[in-house]
Amino acid sequence: MSYALEFENLTKAFGEKVAVHDLTLRVEAGSLLGLLGRNGAGKSTTLKMVTGLLKPTSGSIRVLGLDLATDDLAIKQQIGVMPEDMALLEYLTGPQYLRFVGRMYGLEDAVIDARRDELFAKLDLAPAPKGLVAEYSYGMKKKLALCAALIHAPRVVFLDEPFEGIDAVTSRTIKDILNSLQSRGVTIILTSHIMEVVEKLCPLIAILDEGKLLGFGPLTELRAAEGADNLESLFVDLVGGVKTGELSWL
Ligand SMILES: Nc1ncnc2c1ncn2[C@@H]1O[C@H](COP(=O)(O)OP(=O)(O)OP(=O)(O)O)[C@@H](O)[C@H]1O
Ligand SMILES: [Mg+2]
Repeated sequence: MSYALEFENLTKAFGEKVAVHDLTLRVEAGSLLGLLGRNGAGKSTTLKMVTGLLKPTSGSIRVLGLDLATDDLAIKQQIGVMPEDMALLEYLTGPQYLRFVGRMYGLEDAVIDARRDELFAKLDLAPAPKGLVAEYSYGMKKKLALCAALIHAPRVVFLDEPFEGIDAVTSRTIKDILNSLQSRGVTIILTSHIMEVVEKLCPLIAILDEGKLLGFGPLTELRAAEGADNLESLFVDLVGGVKTGELSWL
């Protein structure tokens, strides 16, 4: 069995707050995993640890069989990341930013520009907006962050809320891109609060709650085990906490 991602007793504490608690999880290569959880559940913290943006408090992470503690550079060359805050360089233009990212991965400028043209055409960013990234709309920034995550043909892709703030047409395109990446053996781990999207896109689901793994497995098996009609019911049933009743002043 070849695993793209392995967490062993992974924990992250911020002072008293344990954001990720003793997480053990193995994701097979070629999976498309939807990482779900309520606000504050620990999803972004988990992704930040895998992608080297945060150091774990304890536990270990392996990506493509390599240990992040000792082989972080080799891992970074093979992963694509769209972090929660997108982490763009706002005072470059989009094409300049992609040149910057592509060169970091050792790509030739001609290769970067050709891939940029394809990505921009696909994501409706063409013709390349002339202004600085700072002047892009929120959705345009997200699209650029996705371009940066894919430009070097990574083997594993981590996307933190890739569909948030994205129009319905582009969402469809992104789903197509992710499906075709998966069909070529790329492993994808994404977070999303949009249950309808995750339900159709992600055969494999992990649910975090207060930093702990509440459920993990194929969506069909999780749904059958809980007797849930759809992912939203499964999620709400497992996580709980829905508040009913009216607001006193309305
Ligand atoms: N740098 C930090 N310092 C202190 N606490 C943090 C920090 N980053 C995250 N946390 C805390 O860790 C917990 C998990 O946060 P995280 O951002 O991982 O949640 P999330 O599942 O991504 O939520 P959301 O769906 O809202 O994006 C939260 O309680 C948050 O306040
Ligand atoms: Mg988050």
